[in-house]
Amino acid sequence: METVFVNGELMDRKEAKVDIEDRGYQFGDGIYEVVRVYGGKTFTMKEHMERFYQSAEKIKLHIPHEMDELTGLINRLIEANSIHDGIVYLQATRGVASRQHHFPASDVKGSVVAYTKEVPVPQSQMDQGVTVKLIEDVRWLRCDIKSLNLLGNLLAKEEAASEGHFEAILHRGDLVTEGSSSNAFMVKDGVVRTHPATNLILNGITRRVIRDVAGSEGIPFQEDAFTLDELLSADEVFIASTTSEVMPVVKIGERLVGEGHPGAVTRKLQGAFRKRIEQEAPVAH
Ligand SMILES: Cc1ncc(COP(=O)(O)O)c(C=O)c1O
Repeated sequence: METVFVNGELMDRKEAKVDIEDRGYQFGDGIYEVVRVYGGKTFTMKEHMERFYQSAEKIKLHIPHEMDELTGLINRLIEANSIHDGIVYLQATRGVASRQHHFPASDVKGSVVAYTKEVPVPQSQMDQGVTVKLIEDVRWLRCDIKSLNLLGNLLAKEEAASEGHFEAILHRGDLVTEGSSSNAFMVKDGVVRTHPATNLILNGITRRVIRDVAGSEGIPFQEDAFTLDELLSADEVFIASTTSEVMPVVKIGERLVGEGHPGAVTRKLQGAFRKRIEQEAPVAH
C-alpha cells in the first residue's frame, strides 16, 4: 500500500481524492516543494520548508499547519512508505471554492497534500554529463515563487527533451536566467557564476548548498548574471536541482562545453556536495 498525506491525514493513495473545484486544479493557484530523501533521511528539509512557507506568503496563501507539525507528518510519510533514495512532493493550494478569480472567503481552508516516490541518484548522467538546449525564457516575472503554474517551464523542457536534451537553459534576451527545473552555472578561469537570486529565478536550495560548499572549498562564487556568449565560451557549465544535484553540462545545442567532458571545478563541487549529504544523512550511500 502506498501512503499519501491529504489535509492532515495519512491515507491509502487509492482513497485520496481531489475536488474538481480545487483552485490548484483549476487555476494552478498554489505552491509546492520537492525535498530529497537519501538513505531514508531528508536533506535540507528546513530550507525547503522555509521556502514553502515563504512562497505561500508571497501569494497570500495560508497553510493550515504549523511548520513543525507539517515537517513531522512528512517524516512519518517517508517512514510509512520506507523510502530509501527518493523525494517528497508537497503541495498547497487555496482550497475548494466555486470558480471565480478573486480569492474565496477566509473560511475556505487551503488544501495540503504530499506523497513520496523512490528516485535514484542519476549517477551515470552525473558522471558523464548531459546536453542542454537554449530556449527563450517567456515565463512571468515572479519566478522566485515556487508556483504550481509551470507552463513556461514545461514547454521549454518538452522542446529540449523532444530533441534528446536533458534540460532547457533559459535566457531573457541576452542574459541566462536558469534551467526549466534547475539553476544554471558557468565556470570561467576557476570562478563559478550564477544568476543572482532575484524575481527572475527560483533561489534553489541546491544552489545555496553549492554556494556554501564552494566557500569552504575556496572556489570563488559570484552571483551575477552572464550572457549567452559568456555561457558559450565557458570552461565548464553545470545545472543543479534537488533531484539532479550537481549535473555537468557537456554540450549546449551542437556546441561542446570545453573539451566536452565534466570539468575539474564541477567535479570538485560534486564531491563536496556528496560530503555534505553524508554529513546530514549519515546512512546515505
Ligand atoms: C525553475 C527551477 N529553478 C531551480 C530549481 C532548483 O531548485 P532546488 O535546488 O531547490 O531543487 C528548480 C527545481 O525544481 C526549478 O524548478
